[in-house]
Amino acid sequence: MPDEVGNLPQHVAIIMDGNGRWARKRGLPRLLGHRKGAKTLEQTVRDAAAAGIKYLSVYAFSTENWKRSSVEKTGLMRIMERYIKRKVAALKEQHGRLRFAGRRDRLPPSLAATFEEAERTTRDEMGIQVILCVDYGGRQEIVDAVKKILEDGIEAENVTEDLLSGYMYLPDVPEPDLIIRTSGEERLSNFWLWTGVYSELYFTDTLWPDFDKGVLSAALEAYSKRQRRKGGV
Ligand code: IPE
Ligand code: IPE
Ligand code: MG
Repeated sequence: MPDEVGNLPQHVAIIMDGNGRWARKRGLPRLLGHRKGAKTLEQTVRDAAAAGIKYLSVYAFSTENWKRSSVEKTGLMRIMERYIKRKVAALKEQHGRLRFAGRRDRLPPSLAATFEEAERTTRDEMGIQVILCVDYGGRQEIVDAVKKILEDGIEAENVTEDLLSGYMYLPDVPEPDLIIRTSGEERLSNFWLWTGVYSELYFTDTLWPDFDKGVLSAALEAYSKRQRRKGGV
């Protein structure tokens, strides 16, 4: 496994796409795809930690996903709540820390409370940081940053890229080195707009519920061969 891969990304971000198609292929309701997707995430956290990844961020629900049916939205929120409640102890045992990125004010209160509780219980863990992006939108993150900057009364002349970076949701988390998207779609769909400007992108046709250690290894392997010039030569 990736232990041998040199040049490991510190922060891997995943756009977990394709749950609905996975279910449809099997004649199942979309929610069963999401449920299987949650299981896949659980295993992926273990695989990423074993590979030496320090930060794993995953896109679970976008600011645009509110357009979906209420059955799907309610179901997804329930799956997330149950998943976190069940898994937080195991994550803590692995010294993992759970964090959230996104708006909190539109979530069901019990889910928001579950997020806060999970953050609190794992706050001091020094192992892998798992960042669940829920009601996350890159544009919204920038809008929220601008609002806070105005509230703080910052003068225009003091607004710099570094200042804005400090106002993003998780300013202490390093920028994603690698963004993986599953299911064959090749777009960002509003993920990590500010911090992802120089992320390496990796696309796979694998649907998220079928994602496994092998696909993760392939992505890490591809990453290790990329040259990150970041505007230099
Ligand atoms: C990703 O799977 C999960 C969410 C966006 C919540 P989708 O639900 O987008 O699955 P497809 O793209 O319809 O297959
Ligand atoms: C992106 O997937 C968001 C998540 C995986 C949470 P979508 O399925 O919502 O994205 P589009 O609509 O294909 O761009
Ligand atoms: Mg999708």
